[in-house]
Amino acid sequence: MKKKLTFLGIETSCDETAASVVQENTDGTAKVLSNIVSSQIEEHREFGGVVPEIAARSHIEKIDLIIDEALKKSNTKIKDLDGIAATAGPGLIVCLTVGYNVGKSLAAFSKKPFLPINHLEGHALSASIENKISFPYLLLLISGGHSQYLIVKGINDYIQIGTTIDDAVGEAFDKTAKILSLGYPGGPEVEKIAKLGKKDSFNLPKPIIHRGGCNLSLAGLKTAVLRKSKEIDLKKEKYNLAASFQNTINQILIEKSKVAMKIFIEKTKISDQLPKNFVVAGGVAANESIRQDLISLSKKMNFNILFPSKQYCGDNGAMIAWAGIKRYKEKNPLLYNKDMPVKSRWALDEKAPFMKGPGLKI
Ligand SMILES: Nc1ncnc2c1ncn2[C@@H]1O[C@H](COP(=O)(O)OP(=O)(O)OP(=O)(O)O)[C@@H](O)[C@H]1O
Ligand SMILES: [Mg+2]
Repeated sequence: MKKKLTFLGIETSCDETAASVVQENTDGTAKVLSNIVSSQIEEHREFGGVVPEIAARSHIEKIDLIIDEALKKSNTKIKDLDGIAATAGPGLIVCLTVGYNVGKSLAAFSKKPFLPINHLEGHALSASIENKISFPYLLLLISGGHSQYLIVKGINDYIQIGTTIDDAVGEAFDKTAKILSLGYPGGPEVEKIAKLGKKDSFNLPKPIIHRGGCNLSLAGLKTAVLRKSKEIDLKKEKYNLAASFQNTINQILIEKSKVAMKIFIEKTKISDQLPKNFVVAGGVAANESIRQDLISLSKKMNFNILFPSKQYCGDNGAMIAWAGIKRYKEKNPLLYNKDMPVKSRWALDEKAPFMKGPGLKI
């Protein structure tokens, strides 16, 4: 019987110190033997966002304990591992460096392969930890720093068909939470209070909704929330404003996902016999309201929709270990150059045009 690969995954790209031991299953999915995530929310709360130096120091303080806990909980010794994977970008350089260097050193001492991983590839493959998903599939990656539609043709084979031209969806949630004095991180807080308000209370803008293909723009929505917050009695109306914001985001994602599905069918020329899979991943994919609306859309458009379970939506080490196993199995050393430096920017589709800044035409 072929040996099942077991990897340690390390994640320190932003404000979560995370480590996980993952073993592949024979059916293309994975068994997560441990998944330890230590969030720094409390350390950054008073600043309303992540402070890089504080985040880096906190990673340094915790990383060895988190890795130790992940190994112990999974009943695994370093000698039992087939490889070590660590996030190498995109993210905050001072944070990435911590997990990356610890992972690389552990691998060197134990003479194990070391795989630098693209954090976005971790999110992109996270739904396949628990679901058998065949390539190609359409991916909506909605997180704190990114919002993109991609065609995932295979490992290291991504075509970006749409992206935000300004704010990411998670960022829009976080900024709205700040305006509504809800604290940090904002996504789950906005979702919670949105349930208590009326979704059609305020008419908020949906920038570029009928143009720009499946590219997204959210900065105007955030500005409209800010403006509205100054016009109303915020204490009384914050539930209605949160509900209207959540509803506007949902409408944007429904409309743009519909466009992305059409582009996916056109570009892949996928036959009617093959399943058309739509994966929604990243921190914002934990939002139940967005999930429900995209499930309804997928039914209408004849797509199977898949999400990672909520513990694998936000940053975690399991998705990094899993991406490491998937890359290692490609048996192409170019896919895991162990000497590559950490990178603050690292697109999944490096040929995609850069879509931010003045003069942008969409
Ligand atoms: N229930 C929710 N509803 C909406 N947004 C949410 C929810 N839960 C988390 N988020 C948002 O998800 C984001 C965090 O996701 P994630 O950890 O994947 O982002 P990141 O790692 O900071 O960014 P990236 O992955 O782009 O580098 C935050 O913006 C947070 O507010
Ligand atoms: Mg992330």
